[in-house]
Amino acid sequence: MSEEDQQHFLDVMMGGLANDDSSVGVYATRPEDYDIFSFYLEPLIREYHKIEGSTKQEHDWNIPVGEYVLTKIDPRLEKVSMRARVARNVKGFNLPPSMDKAERIKFENKMVEVFDSFGIPGKYHSLTPGHKNFISDKEADELRHKHFLFNDMTTDNHLTSSGVASDWPFGRGIWISTDETKMIWIGEEDQLRIISIVQGNDLGQVDKSLHDLLTGIEKSGLQFAEHQTYGVVTTCPTNMGTGKRQSILGKFPNITKQGTDEKKLKDLARSLGLQARGIGGEHSNMDKEGTADISPSARFGVTEAIVTKRLWEGLIKLYDLEKQAGEGGERQNCCIIQ
Ligand code: ARG
Repeated sequence: MSEEDQQHFLDVMMGGLANDDSSVGVYATRPEDYDIFSFYLEPLIREYHKIEGSTKQEHDWNIPVGEYVLTKIDPRLEKVSMRARVARNVKGFNLPPSMDKAERIKFENKMVEVFDSFGIPGKYHSLTPGHKNFISDKEADELRHKHFLFNDMTTDNHLTSSGVASDWPFGRGIWISTDETKMIWIGEEDQLRIISIVQGNDLGQVDKSLHDLLTGIEKSGLQFAEHQTYGVVTTCPTNMGTGKRQSILGKFPNITKQGTDEKKLKDLARSLGLQARGIGGEHSNMDKEGTADISPSARFGVTEAIVTKRLWEGLIKLYDLEKQAGEGGERQNCCIIQ
């Protein structure tokens, strides 16, 4: 390996080297890192997404509306916060860990041009000091309170040590549609996080909303970074493939014993191929009702449609376990994960 590549490899591993609590511990700094350091990243990607043999990423947005309806699981799941997002990076730019301040600002401005012309009504809010769409700290906090805007990235050691959070808050911001169901984060862990949040009970509806937004952006002519095997290129290998994470906010008071045993829910979720996070996103806590963000873990080697199906099938099992735990279920669910 050339000396320059050795330096890049160190950069890729920095998040893990500096944080003992890392579960994955790497962030790509440029799309080509996935080829240059494939000896390391390939096995890691396959292990995380549980891929055996050689799989090439396929895409499929054919997701039924009216089928994955949460009230079928429990009639009380009438109004649930459902979220889906895809991570994207644009061809010709470095990935966030190795962007410098000028590149971050250039990228933000390129996106503002897209927002001005891409046809979905909405507004861009910038965190970049001096930007024409700049918002105050107070306004930013209000958007965080609504769970729209991402947190101050400098409070996350994984993001600071890897360089993802560098030059904060320059080149960072959020576009929000007028109806507040669609949003686009600029300059977080990936250059773009394209998101839909819908309050309701049909998982297919949130996919439709997200796909409409993604298609709108694609029509603007932006070309996303793609890898011939791994699909969409993302900063963290956990997002490679579809880049799609789909979740609901659900309450699991029985499994978590009123939020006091988060680990129990996390372990059960893991055994079902799901991830359970707190209400404020990654590394946040659950509340007294055991409210958790539940999503399938795999994003590579599955299509967008399969991510939704896995969430649906996982939720059926998880809510069943929640019901059992409520029926004095320690006895009944003690042996699910062995
Ligand atoms: N690098 C962190 C770790 O290894 C985060 C991994 C997954 N999360 C993410 N936001 N990419 O724990």
